[in-house]
This record gives sequence, structure tokens and C-alpha cells, in this order.
Amino acid sequence: MSSQVKPHILFSREQIEAKVKKLAAEIREDYQDKHPLLIGILKGSFMFMADLIRLLDFSLELDFIRLSSYGRGRQTSGKIKVVQALRCPIKGRDVLVIEDIVDTGLTISFLLDYLQKRKPASLKLCALTDKPSRRQVPVTIDYLGFTAPNKFIVGYGLDWDEKFRNLPDICVLEGEG
Ligand code: IMP
Repeated sequence: MSSQVKPHILFSREQIEAKVKKLAAEIREDYQDKHPLLIGILKGSFMFMADLIRLLDFSLELDFIRLSSYGRGRQTSGKIKVVQALRCPIKGRDVLVIEDIVDTGLTISFLLDYLQKRKPASLKLCALTDKPSRRQVPVTIDYLGFTAPNKFIVGYGLDWDEKFRNLPDICVLEGEG
């Protein structure tokens, strides 16, 4: 793909803001008395996580994990590993994973399995976007923002080759799909 490629808006910043508010209300309902541990998956979820937690007006903790799945291209290798581990023990905690996008599902099912083995009290998933048409393994998304078409999307934390994370809207790259 050339560096001339132009992103165009799929979900605007206003739509994102409204969706994050809706998700925060659902999460508040379920977690306000639980002092949950929110685990953000780096790097893609950082912007979503930052906006979401500002709307959660109850006691919680944060941690981050970094996984390698995609290299610098677009296809998942299917081989996932933890490249930056958690700092907090999760045994007995109410854990909510915050993900940017569920695509094939391979990354998140690896992570949910990895976390489940560490015996949290509960384990749920919040994903900003979902591309169900690409799924290779079944995944339950407890809190979902947007269902996206089968196109490569960027912005609001999501990258293509480390670029476009800073776009305030979720965009598709022109000429895609
Ligand atoms: P999966 O293992 O195929 O579900 O891929 C999950 C990871 O791939 C996400 O956390 C993203 O980092 C990346 N990814 C998948 N689809 C997209 C996309 O459309 N745009 C940007 N990143 C994507």
C-alpha cells in the first residue's frame, strides 16, 4: 500500500464518544461495587481505555499487557505470545479485558485462556470493535462497541504498520476492500 493512502471515516469521533458513554454505563452497572482490575491490551486499546475509565466513577485498578500477534503486516500469524506481562496478580480479582478489535479471535482467545489459568474471580471482555466475518475461533464479547465490516480499520488507537493511531475517528483506508 502506498503512503499516499487516505483514511476515510467509518465511525466518527461523535459516534465513538456516544458509544464509549454507553459502554461505561453498562460496565458501571456491573462493576461499581467490585473494585475490578481493567486490563488493556497494548498498544491498540490505549485511547479507548483512557476515554472509558474517565467515565467510570468508582474504584478500580488498571494494568496492561502486550501481546505479539500481528507483525508489521495485516495477517495474524496465529502464534501469540506475551511480550509485556501484567504487574498485578489477578487471582480472585474481577477482571475486565479492554481490547480494540476482535478480528480472527485468535489473540483474545489466547489471552482469555492465559488469564483464566491464573484464577480470577470473574473474567469478561469489552471490545470497542468486532469484525465477526473474520472469526476463526468463537469469542464471547460481553461489552461491544461497534460491529465493523470486513475492512482494515485504523484510528482511535488502531494502526496500520504503526501509523494512524492518532486519528480521532475510526477510519478505513481508501481503496481497501
Ligand atoms: P485477531 O487475533 O485476528 O483477533 O487480531 C487481533 C489484533 O489484530 C487486534 O488487537 C489488532 O491489534 C489487530 N487487528 C485486527 N484487525 C485490525 C484492523 O482492522 N485494524 C487494526 N488492527 C487490527
